Amino acid sequence: MIFSSISKLLHICHPRKLFIMLLCLGLMLYLYATYATDQIDKEFASVIENDTLTVCKENFSDKRQFVYVPQDPVSNIVTSTTQTSSHVEKLPKIYFVTPTYPRREQMAELTRLGQTLMHVQNIVWIVADDSESCNPRLDTLLSNLGLPYIHLSSPMPFMYKSHKSIPRGVSNRRAALSWIKSNKITDGVLYFGDDDNTFDLRLFSEIRHTQKVSMFPVGLIGDYSISSPIIKNNKVVAFFDSWPAKRTWPVDMAGFAVNLGYLAKYPNATMPYKAGYEEDAFLKSIGLKINEIEPLALGCTEVYVWHTQTTKTKAPLIKVAKDTLKNSKSNLMLLLTTLSEMGVNHFSGSGGVKAIVSRDGKSKSLISWAH
Ligand SMILES: *[C@@H]1O[C@H](CO)[C@@H](O)[C@H](O)[C@H]1NC(C)=O
Ligand SMILES: *[C@@H]1O[C@H](CO)[C@@H](O)[C@H](O)[C@H]1NC(C)=O
Ligand SMILES: *[C@@H]1O[C@H](CO)[C@@H](O)[C@H](O)[C@H]1NC(C)=O
Repeated sequence: MIFSSISKLLHICHPRKLFIMLLCLGLMLYLYATYATDQIDKEFASVIENDTLTVCKENFSDKRQFVYVPQDPVSNIVTSTTQTSSHVEKLPKIYFVTPTYPRREQMAELTRLGQTLMHVQNIVWIVADDSESCNPRLDTLLSNLGLPYIHLSSPMPFMYKSHKSIPRGVSNRRAALSWIKSNKITDGVLYFGDDDNTFDLRLFSEIRHTQKVSMFPVGLIGDYSISSPIIKNNKVVAFFDSWPAKRTWPVDMAGFAVNLGYLAKYPNATMPYKAGYEEDAFLKSIGLKINEIEPLALGCTEVYVWHTQTTKTKAPLIKVAKDTLKNSKSNLMLLLTTLSEMGVNHFSGSGGVKAIVSRDGKSKSLISWAH
C-alpha cells in the first residue's frame, strides 16, 4: 500500500512531467499578469471625467525687489533689481508647477520653496493643492511673497485613494496642464517642482532657455542617491537610474523642463494616474526623441535639484570601479566623483548596489555598457 503510493508519487514527479507542470504553471502566471496589466490600463484610460479643477486665484502682478540678482548665462542680460525692467521681461517665462497637499509640513515647505522662487525672474508659480476647497491660508502665503501665482485646487479622484501605491501629485499636475492649455499659453517653459525639493538658482537660468525638452541630474533619488542622463559628446545616450522598470524615460519629475511651444504641438499630452510611471508616460505623450534632449547642468555633471525629504537615509554604495567609470567616457565619472566628495553616495568596485544603464526601456550593467 505504502510502496504503491510512493511509486505513484515518483511517477508523478518524473522529470518530464514535472517540467510540463512547471511550464503550465508559468503560462498561467503569465496570462494572469497580462490580464492584470490590462485591467490597470483600462482603469487609467477612463479617468478624465473624474478630474476636478477649481481656479482659486490668479495674480500676475509682480511686486518683488531682488536681493540676489543672477546673471543670465545665455542672453547675458544685465539684470536689474526690479522685476519691471524690460530686460527681465525679455527672458523666457518659467511656469513652475508645484503639486502640494494638506499635511503637517505643508506651509513650512511652501514658505521655503516660495522664498527660493522670490529670487527667480520672470516666473509664474502654479500651486495646485490636493484639496476639495480653496485654502485661504495658502492664498495669504502666496500673496505675501509678491510673486505672480496661480492657486488651483485639484483633489485626487476618490477612486485612487485606496490604491496600493497612491499616484500622488497627479491630479495637481494634470490641473496645471489643463490650466496652461485653457489659457493657450505657448510661450515659456514648464517645470514640475515638488514642494519639498531643493533648487539651486542656477537651475532657473538654464531651464528657461529650453527649446524642446531639457534634462539634468536629480540628487537623492533611489538606490544611487542620483538619477541622471548619461552624456557622451554633449548628447544624452542613456540613463543612470536605479529603478529602470522598463521605462523608456527613467527620469524623475524634477529632472526635465519642457518648452510650452513644443508642448502645444502635442494636444494629447497627459499624465496618467499610474504611480511610478508618470514621467515616462508624460514624456511618451509628447513624442520625445533621445537625440533631441538638451542636457543642462554642465553636461549633467552638477546637481541643481535635490529630492529632499524629511526622512533620514544612509548614503548608498554603488558597485562600480573607477576604471569602469573612466572607460565609459561619459559624464558619470565627474558626476559620481563630485557626489562622493559631497557624501551623497560612494562607489567601489568591490561591493554595493549594482550599477545599471538604461536605454529604450532596456537595461544592462554599467560594466558591460562601458566597454
Ligand atoms: C496681487 O498681489 C499683489 C501683491 O503682489 C497685491 O498688491 C494685489 O492686490 C493682488 N491682486 C489681487 C487682485 O488680489
Ligand atoms: C468617476 O466618474 C464616473 C463617471 O462620471 C463615476 O461613475 C465614478 O463613480 C467616479 N469615480 C470616483 C468619483 O472615484
Ligand atoms: C490625439 O488623439 C486623437 C484621438 O485618439 C488622435 O486622433 C490624434 O491623432 C492624436 N493627435 C496627436 C497629435 O497625436
